Amino acid sequence: MTISRPLLIFDSGIGGLSVLRPITKLLPTAPIVYVADSAFYPYGTKKPSEIEARVPVLLARLAERFDPELIVVACNTASTIALDQVRIALNLPVVGTVPAIKPAAALSKKRVIGVLGTEATVRQPYVDRLSKEYAADCLVLRHGSAELVGLAEAKLRGEDTDPAAYREILRCLLDQPGGEKMDVIVLACTHFPLVRQELEAASPRPLAFVDGSDGIARRTAWLTRDRRWPAEPSPGIALFTSDDPALESYRKGLAGFGLTLTEPL
Ligand code: DGL
Repeated sequence: MTISRPLLIFDSGIGGLSVLRPITKLLPTAPIVYVADSAFYPYGTKKPSEIEARVPVLLARLAERFDPELIVVACNTASTIALDQVRIALNLPVVGTVPAIKPAAALSKKRVIGVLGTEATVRQPYVDRLSKEYAADCLVLRHGSAELVGLAEAKLRGEDTDPAAYREILRCLLDQPGGEKMDVIVLACTHFPLVRQELEAASPRPLAFVDGSDGIARRTAWLTRDRRWPAEPSPGIALFTSDDPALESYRKGLAGFGLTLTEPL
């Protein structure tokens, strides 16, 4: 019997869990290895050159260790900066994460869209290109928030987070000139769908929040369509790249996603 090669889902932290969820819905028995690059977290405040220098090399090492079927770079920051280099470095299919500007433009009635990402992502020329290509008739406003990444991490550790913090983050987007008409917000960081409820609760008016996770799951399923997955699901494994006992606090949250925390890389 052949041992099924896993799907490897990668992020700087726990954001990739928002992508894992729809993947396991479509492929419930696919073996999963989830890797959080906690040693270099957060990515959003790093220089592009640092992300470019780290991510392809790390993923090549992970590919060697786990021999995955496919790698999902479940991180907008790494994808918008280093996806091409990752593809060059690896000899296997790689699915990236791009800000969901296209579906947001399809949805917006008022033609004003917000892009909420990390500071690094919202500055990327990639976002300019997507806006030009898919939202040329929209005003696209952006806000980068490292704080929101931290709030999503805290939530998964089981900590209470302050509703005022979400209100303030949304205010930074909505209070920009033209923002009064904004009706759709792109969650352009994989951490953010994990606090979607909190963002919805903090919204001063009804806003649609969109992200790309369902599309990534469909793409993953398509690229592995010829694969025979095991008959039964098995627990996935999650590992962090740093060796910090404090990471134990993620164990319970990870179990909620069917993942067992394992030894660091
Ligand atoms: N989850 C990541 C993203 O999608 C990055 C969070 C961070 O490390 O700053 O961009």
